[in-house]
Amino acid sequence: VLCIDLFCGLGGWAEGFLSEGWDVIGFDIERHDYGTGGYPGQLVLQDATTLHGSQFRNADVIVASPPCQAYSYRAMPWKRAKALPPPDNTLFEACFRIQAEACTALSQTGGASEWQRERMLQGFMPIPLVVENVRGAEKWVGEAAWHFGPYYLWGDVPALMPRSRNDAKVPNQDWNKYRKEGTISPHWRLQHTTGPQWFDHGIACLPSNSARRKAASAQIAKIPFPLAQHIARVFKPG
Ligand SMILES: C[S@@+](CC[C@H](N)C(=O)[O-])C[C@H]1O[C@@H](n2cnc3c(N)ncnc32)[C@H](O)[C@@H]1O
Repeated sequence: VLCIDLFCGLGGWAEGFLSEGWDVIGFDIERHDYGTGGYPGQLVLQDATTLHGSQFRNADVIVASPPCQAYSYRAMPWKRAKALPPPDNTLFEACFRIQAEACTALSQTGGASEWQRERMLQGFMPIPLVVENVRGAEKWVGEAAWHFGPYYLWGDVPALMPRSRNDAKVPNQDWNKYRKEGTISPHWRLQHTTGPQWFDHGIACLPSNSARRKAASAQIAKIPFPLAQHIARVFKPG
């Protein structure tokens, strides 16, 4: 069973899928390795926008984590961020184009499996796609189907999904307290300064383009193992 991992980074998706016995081929323009090990699947160094989905007609699932910086930045409560022109959604949209091309090629070859034919009868794409990005992307690409902490998901998100521990409600919070104090609520902090958001801003204290900053960025953007493993289990044929 084959998983295609677009914008694969350090391989958070790949780790979950490999643990469930999948083969994983990842695409990225960079070979990320910061001394803790590189991409764990088969890495292809290629710009994802140059891919034609027909080559993935044999894939069983596509996962994708296009870069989030443009969305994260525009979600920051600063005038300078709000004044920016709309972001370029090309990389986000490329994921759906590639899925559509893969599914079209699959139907043309008539090679759909029983599981895939069943999916089509139910109105789903035979090759599912899950795209991960940040909450700030919702304004530009539409509402996410689910989120696991700060990791927001679009596309063919399964009906049953895990929750992140970060998403547990904090009972009896006096939110006004934070307003009065002029401080930031823990909830805001969770949504905006952990995960991919912190990725861009919390580490701004490190010199830009430094190796440490790159390593920290890649680590923070990495898909959490429980999320990747869940998707790998749900979409494993048979
Ligand atoms: C949000 S990170 C991916 C994180 C990954 N899911 C993980 O678990 O580690 C986005 C990745 O997209 C890559 N990237 C940026 N532009 C790209 C392009 N045009 N084609 C392929 N990869 C690209 C970056 O090098 C980066 O590794």
